[in-house]
Amino acid sequence: MPLAVYRNDMWDTLWIEANLATMAGPAPYGAIRDGAVAAKDGRIAWAGPRKALPNAPEALAREVRSAGGGWITPGLVDCHTHLVFGGDRAREFELRLEGASYEEIARAGGGIVSTVAATRAAIVEDLVRSAAPRLAALKAGGVTTVEIKSGYGLDLENELKQLDAARRLGEDGDIRIRRTFLGLHALPPEYANDRDGYVSLVADTMIPEVARSGVADAVDAFCEGIGFTAAETERVFMAARAHGLPVKLHAEQLSDLDGAALAARHGALSADHLEWLNDAGIAAMAKAGTVAVLLPGAFYALRETKLPPIDKLRAAGVPMAIATDCNPGSSPVASPLLMLNMACTLFRMTPEEALAGMTREGARALGLQDEIGTLEIGKAADLAVWNIGEPAELSYWIGANLLRERVFAGRVDGYQGE
Ligand code: NIG
Ligand code: FE
Repeated sequence: MPLAVYRNDMWDTLWIEANLATMAGPAPYGAIRDGAVAAKDGRIAWAGPRKALPNAPEALAREVRSAGGGWITPGLVDCHTHLVFGGDRAREFELRLEGASYEEIARAGGGIVSTVAATRAAIVEDLVRSAAPRLAALKAGGVTTVEIKSGYGLDLENELKQLDAARRLGEDGDIRIRRTFLGLHALPPEYANDRDGYVSLVADTMIPEVARSGVADAVDAFCEGIGFTAAETERVFMAARAHGLPVKLHAEQLSDLDGAALAARHGALSADHLEWLNDAGIAAMAKAGTVAVLLPGAFYALRETKLPPIDKLRAAGVPMAIATDCNPGSSPVASPLLMLNMACTLFRMTPEEALAGMTREGARALGLQDEIGTLEIGKAADLAVWNIGEPAELSYWIGANLLRERVFAGRVDGYQGE
């Protein structure tokens, strides 16, 4: 005799004793107090006020879980990282503390190019092994989707190796990984006297191969005095689009090269950093629907003083995302919640804008707004369950361990409650 009869229309899991920050609809945080959310076959099958549940919880789901009276948000989306790299740059951190600037270090052959040497020297297993603790830290902070860029290989073989390491990091099937090809990140030493030769290699050889082999979801570039010009960036964007790959851009981080407007003209998913963004760039982004990805970790670690124009972005209705920019140079950050805090304390965003920046708008910056980023029926059941009394606590605490459980595609891991 079976102990219980399960109907196959039952939900797999139902969370109750929960408040929901759905991040959808007009209410602040899309909040539903005393709510419930259900997962079936990896998707959100139901979300709403508990009172509206059509039956007793045990009659509706095979497993009923308590959120302990805390809050459930969409799983966090870290939409801009350079998580895979060889070596570290702690020595440069010391040099900067002694007075050298990020740009001076880069021009003297340090910076990105020094990480390129260490990345080229590493085998793919080493890259996976060294990135794993960083990825684990993001997961422990509630991340269920992460974007990982290449850009430390700077030749076809080593760029593909980095993208392969990024793929392998997702092999456990407990996180969604999106990969971005960033060939135009720095000029590799062997092309020091041949900028055009390198831009051609990226546009005419690497992008066709990256597109053919399906190893990246988008193409990025570093448009900057110490990176690449707008004309060089545009050439690579044309190649990306000709091969069906969407673009995004590191723009206006250290100076204003009209990069955001260029990105918007190419229908970019996002323009990122944006400390030096000008009014025309804001207007172009608003018109194109290009997301502003703001990176407070890089602003903080480089001790920048020029703030991105948050008020103007808000007034223009440009969607704003927040990400860690986890990388060994400008942003050695593996804490998503610290980025929410810094988005508020440094950039003066509201806690609600900050959380939207790592959920709904982070999803939009990856072109995944129909799949993840809000608690809505039909989206992936990627959730973060938090031991908090109000959603603003996610931005308010610094260094606290607030995650109760992380749910990817309806499956629970990292249970820390009780
Ligand atoms: O997002 N600005 C360019 N790329 C990275 C830094 C990479 C590095 O310094 O290794 C960034 O800040
Ligand atoms: Fe970056």
